[in-house]
Amino acid sequence: MDLGIKNKKALVFGASSGLGKAVAQALVHEGARVAIGARSEGKLLAAKEQIGAHVCATVDMSQVGSAKTFTLHAMEQLGGADIVVINTGGPPKGAFSAVTTEQWVDGFQSLWMSTVDVINTVLPTMKQHKWGRILLITSAAAKEPIPELTISNGLRAGLLGLARSLSHEIAPYGITINSLLPGHTDTERLTNLGIDKTKIIEHIPAGRLGTTREFGALGAFLASDLAGFITGQAIVADGGAQHGI
Ligand SMILES: NC(=O)c1ccc[n+]([C@@H]2O[C@H](COP(=O)([O-])OP(=O)(O)OC[C@H]3O[C@@H](n4cnc5c(N)ncnc54)[C@H](OP(=O)(O)O)[C@@H]3O)[C@@H](O)[C@H]2O)c1
Repeated sequence: MDLGIKNKKALVFGASSGLGKAVAQALVHEGARVAIGARSEGKLLAAKEQIGAHVCATVDMSQVGSAKTFTLHAMEQLGGADIVVINTGGPPKGAFSAVTTEQWVDGFQSLWMSTVDVINTVLPTMKQHKWGRILLITSAAAKEPIPELTISNGLRAGLLGLARSLSHEIAPYGITINSLLPGHTDTERLTNLGIDKTKIIEHIPAGRLGTTREFGALGAFLASDLAGFITGQAIVADGGAQHGI
């Protein structure tokens, strides 16, 4: 299937490993020109080489102004922005009583304000071209809160409201915005969080973790020309783990 995004210019955040890198790789595979960003330059350069991205630059979503600076730089290098995939590392774990004010502020900057800044920066060009795809990588926790992930549960549910609300405003310009909600997917993050994968799998009807390849393909489809009628949606990829409708 031709997804119709050859030579489209794509920016992918949090793309030196895991889910962001998988979406970036799938976009490169479809012929898009891709800029990737994350904090560690070494990891970024390795990822750029491995997946064949066209541009890479450091960005820290937790720092005010960093996401906007990356966006402007990547747009200059690529000659515009047709697709943006907004992603970052997950916020720290903690029950409500354990979360500090500093962690809330940091989480809000990383997950929320960076998202707003990136969208504000790319929208004028997308509107002018009457075409755009905005993807937010959030979490299945946005629909079904996960114990101890208070910051993620709260802010990411809010992002779904933001995306749905914005989808109405930008649809007339041929721009879509959708949220991708991963369930447990086999990335570095799971290993770093010290999650017992065998225990997790017991709660996934599919009997396994998700793969980055599957997630990348979902991202590429939602970023495609063919997905132009899908907007404001929150798409869960979790092997059937959620119970709600
Ligand atoms: N994997 C899962 O099962 C799962 C499930 C639900 C939700 N999620 C969510 O999906 C997102 C991606 O998860 P993942 O599993 O792909 O994690 P990962 O393998 O740890 O990758 C995270 C990527 O984001 C970058 N990053 C981290 N903090 C950043 C920051 N402040 N600014 C810019 N880039 C940053 C990392 O590179 P640097 O460290 O070099 O910056 C890396 O490239 C997370 O928000 C996570 O909460 C994942």
